[in-house]
Amino acid sequence: MSCTIVVGAQWGDEGKGKIIDILASDADIIVRYQGGNNAGHTVVIGDNEFILHLIPSGILHKGKTCIIGNGVVIDPDALLKEIEMLRKKGVKVDGNLLISEAAHVILPYHKVIDKRRGAEIGTTGRGIGPCYVDKMARCGIRMADLVNEDSLRRKLQANLQDSAEFDCEAIYKQYLEYGKKMKKYLANVPIVLSKAMAKKKRILFEGAQGTLLDVDHGTYPYVTSSNATAGGALTGTGVGPTAINKVIGVVKAYTTRVGEGPFPTQFKDELMEKIRSKGKEFGATTGRPRRCGWFDAIIVRHAVIVNGLSEIVVTKLDVLDETENIKVCTGYKYKGKTYKDFPADIDVLSGCEPVYEDHKGWMSDTTSVKKYKDLPKNAKAYLNRLSELLDVKIGMVSVGSKRRQAFKTK
Ligand code: IMP
Repeated sequence: MSCTIVVGAQWGDEGKGKIIDILASDADIIVRYQGGNNAGHTVVIGDNEFILHLIPSGILHKGKTCIIGNGVVIDPDALLKEIEMLRKKGVKVDGNLLISEAAHVILPYHKVIDKRRGAEIGTTGRGIGPCYVDKMARCGIRMADLVNEDSLRRKLQANLQDSAEFDCEAIYKQYLEYGKKMKKYLANVPIVLSKAMAKKKRILFEGAQGTLLDVDHGTYPYVTSSNATAGGALTGTGVGPTAINKVIGVVKAYTTRVGEGPFPTQFKDELMEKIRSKGKEFGATTGRPRRCGWFDAIIVRHAVIVNGLSEIVVTKLDVLDETENIKVCTGYKYKGKTYKDFPADIDVLSGCEPVYEDHKGWMSDTTSVKKYKDLPKNAKAYLNRLSELLDVKIGMVSVGSKRRQAFKTK
């Protein structure tokens, strides 16, 4: 039995889509466990670029089963459009996609509330937070409700009884229609997974967003509303901790962040533009320019700890190919004190001065390197130092967006 969780170890957008796509070739089942269509996983196959928001990237491989777990919040309209987009590009979505009956549904009022209240956090405006609020407040609507007319009507009426803004009947009819279209995908996911594990199937759990956006372990309140960390893979699918063999963290060779919130190592100079354009650092979901900065070993070490990472994958190393002097943050200075561990107090992160160590760049093109040993000396020294600071091994390095531009370190 092999169950592997893949998580983002920074603020999301680490390149998980590509890594899941590579790892999916050795898996039988790929499961998304949290978040919703706030995520955007980009996978490049040949000349084709796919941006997936809800469906696991494994769908691009033939013969795999893809599952959306109960921890995911689903906008039916977005999901149906994504299925249609895949079909148009020749990807089969029939019998290979299962959706948890217990996953919560994003409704029109969630999106309106998110757009109204999410600006301070810089949310994606997709209704994610308000949908999770209803889940926790126990007034959410789940996928199973979309195929149960009485339950859907009762719950919508209860939620909208004081609202003059939303037409309850119209929403009821629209979501019942969605239910009809999605019924064939609905499944009892814990049962499906336990049977698969009994048959020794290989299962890959695909995290969305990243550790620093996790509602418990991230830069709260500037986070998303779900558990993007490894624990979310358990509650978000219905498997127990004893099933998990490996947890892989994906990190960029530098750092990016979209939306609001503290980012100690953010570039203050022309590097912002240079790295943003070389790394194509624009949100896959909203198109917003990402903020860019140096690698922050404090936040990634935090990710190693809270996820129990077995190894990390370093992506986008090539983006630093033309950077002469590279910095790595190894601590934060705040009010005369130096922090070596990730602080829960957001004021420390917002007001701190990063402590940096300097590294010599390699100033050569790594995009066609195929073996770890062939990387430039300074690039290897940089990676070795990251591994040392994080106290975790680097299992794979990625040097471009194509499938072939990645290699194992051993
Ligand atoms: P929400 O998830 O839309 O509620 O947004 C909350 C925060 O998470 C905002 O700062 C978003 O920019 C950020 N966020 C949500 N999804 C992603 C993602 O997939 N990548 C990077 N940031 C994200």
